[in-house]
Amino acid sequence: MNEVPTFKLRSARLADAEGIFALIKDHSDLLVPKPMGDIVASIDRFVVAEADGAIVGCATYSILPEIGAVDRATVEVQSVAVSEPFRKHGVGRALVESILKRIELFEPADALVLTFAPEFFAKLGFVEIPKSKVMHKLYSGCIHCTKHADPFTCPEIAMSKKI
Ligand SMILES: CC(C)(COP(=O)(O)OP(=O)(O)OC[C@H]1O[C@@H](n2cnc3c(N)ncnc32)[C@H](O)[C@@H]1OP(=O)(O)O)[C@@H](O)C(=O)NCCC(=O)NCCS
Repeated sequence: MNEVPTFKLRSARLADAEGIFALIKDHSDLLVPKPMGDIVASIDRFVVAEADGAIVGCATYSILPEIGAVDRATVEVQSVAVSEPFRKHGVGRALVESILKRIELFEPADALVLTFAPEFFAKLGFVEIPKSKVMHKLYSGCIHCTKHADPFTCPEIAMSKKI
């Protein structure tokens, strides 16, 4: 796609759940899968990019009270995906910036992401941190991984951004 695609960024609606599910499932090698029930139950935390009535991008977040002081708990940015024809046109940036704007309202110390796309998140101000800083997260999420026996041999990068 050469011309800049037109997309609209908005809060997700319940009717978007299927589109979000499909987008996350399409990237199952890069994103933690999310059951439909979890997407529906947390639909108020999703932002979507819509083009011609289709969901072409999504992002969400989750508060991690186990990381950092509870009054400034870390927030994890999750499920950031843009469908291939819409990439490299600012959709991913717009989604993550929108999530960061929402997160700011809670005044967490920082935003965390575990990602295979570190260059993208670096452009948004995230910096790599040692995985040892997010052990709780690793052992509550990564423990279910079927690809790598140990989070420290997994190529996923932990990154953080001060809020
Ligand atoms: C990562 C992803 C969300 C980026 O979406 P996108 O819409 O292409 O990103 P943008 O166009 O907004 O890019 C923002 C900046 O990051 C850069 N960028 C985007 N993807 C990049 C990549 N894979 N490698 C290096 N830089 C990248 C862009 O060039 C742009 O830089 P600029 O501001 O200097 O122009 C998208 O490639 C994707 O869905 N990947 C598969 C799922 C995934 O890996 N998600 C992240 C895991 S949490």
